[in-house]
Amino acid sequence: MKMSVIGCGYLGAVHAACMAELGHEVVGIDVDQSKIDALAAGQAPFFEPGLPELLRSATATGRLSFSTDPAAAKGSQVHFVAVGTPQKKGENAADLTYVDAAVDGLIPFLSEGDLVVGKSTVPVGTAARLAAKVKAGAPGADLAWNPEFLREGFAVKDTISPDRLVYGLPGGEGHAHAKALLDEVYAIALGNDTPLVVTDYATAELVKVSANAFLATKISFINAMAEIAEVTGADVTQLADAIGFDSRIGRKFLNAGVGFGGGCLPKDIRAFTARAEELGRGESVAFLKEVDAINLRRRQRVVDLVVESLGGSVFQKKVAVLGLSFKPDSDDVRDSPALDVAVQLNGLGADVIATDPESIRNAQRLHPQLSFTENTADALAGAEAVVILTEWKEFRELDPAWAFGLVENAIVIDGRNCLDMAAWREAGWTYQGLGRP
Ligand code: UDX
Repeated sequence: MKMSVIGCGYLGAVHAACMAELGHEVVGIDVDQSKIDALAAGQAPFFEPGLPELLRSATATGRLSFSTDPAAAKGSQVHFVAVGTPQKKGENAADLTYVDAAVDGLIPFLSEGDLVVGKSTVPVGTAARLAAKVKAGAPGADLAWNPEFLREGFAVKDTISPDRLVYGLPGGEGHAHAKALLDEVYAIALGNDTPLVVTDYATAELVKVSANAFLATKISFINAMAEIAEVTGADVTQLADAIGFDSRIGRKFLNAGVGFGGGCLPKDIRAFTARAEELGRGESVAFLKEVDAINLRRRQRVVDLVVESLGGSVFQKKVAVLGLSFKPDSDDVRDSPALDVAVQLNGLGADVIATDPESIRNAQRLHPQLSFTENTADALAGAEAVVILTEWKEFRELDPAWAFGLVENAIVIDGRNCLDMAAWREAGWTYQGLGRP
């Protein structure tokens, strides 16, 4: 099938490459010339495992191309809208400028029977509004909402073999046609028995935000337990293991630490709260404000632990920060707890030296005042305290005896509870995790 993907960021670039890999003929469209140039040359403009290989193989088949010209969408039957919906500056609500611009830009190039498919995460009610816009500008075309659940770091796998598909379809005449087109898009996944939920716009939009709200709540729940553990001497990691054995609860997303960040969970729970308030149902999701507050308190807790461990002041003390991305296997530093902690420590006068396998460039662009090194040993050399903030494999597997030989003070704050506490203590380190004795 011929399809266009509008927006070639973390979501759109992966979606375009995966659709081509599955046999479709895809054009990726973005306003950013440098991104399009990189993608067209088979290079991923951001770090995502498996994406460079996929881009190279898909472009070699001739089925994947990229363009900055919205007219390139003409001739495709299905048009995915995969642009960002960031948090508005100074507000909780989502900024829909890019979504509206993408749909407006697409309308002149739509033909009879085309389907616009929203993938961006939007406030409930957006799809109905955009559908009316499409109908007004291109009466023969329709709109569906098909939320995306991919995780950075696993984006290729999550797109090729999603754990479920959700179609939010128009009512009336367009319903069957829209479903048939989406079934063709996802024929391989459907053939592999991927669960499918066919529903209306509002449900499809809400599925996405409620999934992210649930995940954020799960993380803040365990982080709240970490706060209680900290005043009682309990160990939140054992607590998580024990409650996680209950299959109704499950162990996933119960890792206590410096909390969640990234381009999705923080802004999605805030946008959800703002939308619920607009709808007069603010109280229904008022708990998400608490989820957000718990999450942000954990960042402060890590900063406080570093200050305490250095006797009450970090001024002119060398602090090694291991990890900058919001999670491992990603170079994304959007709302990253790790970067936030590094910046706060720097603001307190610490001599911060930060390292990360993939995100130094992105972090440096936002916070050039920090010092960076690509070499973990250099970050550790002479450090008076070490803080682990992203659980990259190479940090989880650090040899505590080797690291001991490099630092000035053997003090480690494990902001992700990812180190072997006993092994580090045995090697002579003063170890402090989050919610751990
Ligand atoms: C999330 C959703 O998982 C995905 O379904 C959606 O499509 C987009 O948002 P992503 O932002 O890639 O995906 O990251 P995710 O793996 O969910 O992690 C989010 C944050 O939570 C990270 O900062 C991670 O470190 C943190 N986290 C996760 C925890 O602090 N503890 C956990 O147990 C799990």
